[in-house]
Amino acid sequence: MKPEVRLALDRAADAVRRRTGASFPRVGVVLGSGLAGVSDAVASEVEIPYRAIPGLAGCTAPGHRSRLVAGRLPAATGPDLPVALLCGRHHLYEGHDADSAAFGVRLLGTLGVRKLVITAAVGAIRSDLHAGDFALLRDHLNLTGTSPLEGAEPGPEPRFPDMTRVWDPELSAALRRAGERTGTELSTGVYAGLRGPQFETPAEIRMLAAMGADVVGMSVVMEAIAARHAGLRIAGITFCSNLAAGISPVPLDAAHVNEAAARAVPRLTALLAAAASEPAFAGQLRCGTIPP
Ligand code: HPA
Repeated sequence: MKPEVRLALDRAADAVRRRTGASFPRVGVVLGSGLAGVSDAVASEVEIPYRAIPGLAGCTAPGHRSRLVAGRLPAATGPDLPVALLCGRHHLYEGHDADSAAFGVRLLGTLGVRKLVITAAVGAIRSDLHAGDFALLRDHLNLTGTSPLEGAEPGPEPRFPDMTRVWDPELSAALRRAGERTGTELSTGVYAGLRGPQFETPAEIRMLAAMGADVVGMSVVMEAIAARHAGLRIAGITFCSNLAAGISPVPLDAAHVNEAAARAVPRLTALLAAAASEPAFAGQLRCGTIPP
């Protein structure tokens, strides 16, 4: 990581610590387009606007709320899940560079989060995926042409981190079981991460399908690479807000993406809350201490 990013993270972590005290959840969730409503179910102990955290820009994308929420997500049965939610993310298409797109996730890692669920609305490419389906990520294609690990001096972290198992099978299995218990079936898929902001052409979607992509979006990969590099264990839950271009019978529309995702919030909320009863999350049911 670049030294200036490390410094910025330390300053941002100090600003959060001043609001939360030393105790902070060990589970984090990034809420993608239209999915910020999950935070409405959290009994929030702390809610910090991004503008109060140095280094964390406000979000310009529709359906992103620009706040960090730390609190407890209550489950219908079983224990609550202490979580830190990034309600809104930063995309390359907003003009952010790879470090800025990864800043929120790196901040969670700096604050002691060890397990992270990355959510996003996506277009469905694979023929058995439909609008309204959820898919867990089993791998990704970084087609953005950049990486948050670029830079002259990596410091103590590995220069060439292994990316064989970015998406954690154990966390993913736990989320799949939580989905089964709450009535939401989760498929699995490979995410193609593009820069956007234009949606894809039908020819690009055919190319992505040939490359092995099942779903497509404009986020996720910068966060995933930075999180793994920082040693976090991650799972990805994508919501198919639409069929991809050329498969969809109607033109794609960002307002529709957000509306469809917002309708999926109750299912996603129930699923995440139910994860607290899964062994993979059982060690995280107490807050940790923010590292000095
Ligand atoms: N393409 C890219 N990003 C998306 C899509 C899509 O079809 N749907 C939601 N995010």
